[in-house]
Amino acid sequence: MFDTLDAVRTDIAQRLKRGASDRKSAFHCPAIATADADARIMVLRAFDEDAWTLRFNTDARAPKVAAIGESAPVGVLFYDAGAKIQLRCRGTGRIEHYGPIADAAWEEATNFARRCYLGDGPGAVSDGPTSGLPERFEGVEPSDEDLEPARENFAVLLVTVEEADWFYLSNDGHVRAQFLHGKGRWVAP
Ligand SMILES: Cc1cc2nc3c(=O)[nH]c(=O)nc-3n(C[C@H](O)[C@H](O)[C@H](O)COP(=O)(O)O)c2cc1C
Repeated sequence: MFDTLDAVRTDIAQRLKRGASDRKSAFHCPAIATADADARIMVLRAFDEDAWTLRFNTDARAPKVAAIGESAPVGVLFYDAGAKIQLRCRGTGRIEHYGPIADAAWEEATNFARRCYLGDGPGAVSDGPTSGLPERFEGVEPSDEDLEPARENFAVLLVTVEEADWFYLSNDGHVRAQFLHGKGRWVAP
């Protein structure tokens, strides 16, 4: 079923598209690795098939934002246990704080989702367990006016995939393919 590199390339694109649009997809929550040897789960929000670019939403105050800045190597690791497919992506990440893509991502978010950006920044130390949100917004959807200060805490992470490593785990023999700037080759698993 994965006899050609074109079939594998199509499989990768379809999984990434579905990962962005279907919250039940195993590709919806990949691990994002930065060059400081840190990794974290993020929700895949969009996949641009023409530019092979992944989009994630983030708090602009998060440590990963400082680690990535305008350009840095980023790894993105996906695993679909049901399909037995691992996808390792390597590329260049950049944070867009204000700009057309970040503005559109903010516009498409619900006020409930935007609420996360009204609280303390990720990693802020607290005396006890905390959501970081101001008390009046606990469990409450803020109004557009309430959310005015939140926009400056919102940014997007864009990762342009330069290398993709696809691995299919199979009893009949694992299969592995790599794509470097779109050019594919088979490799031993
Ligand atoms: C299921 C799940 C989804 C998450 N989605 C996001 C996300 O889309 N964006 C994000 O910045 N953090 C997300 N997080 C939180 C991050 O994993 C991480 O803890 C946080 O962003 C702070 O990361 P940093 O300290 O590396 O900057 C998610 C966590 C989980 C468990």
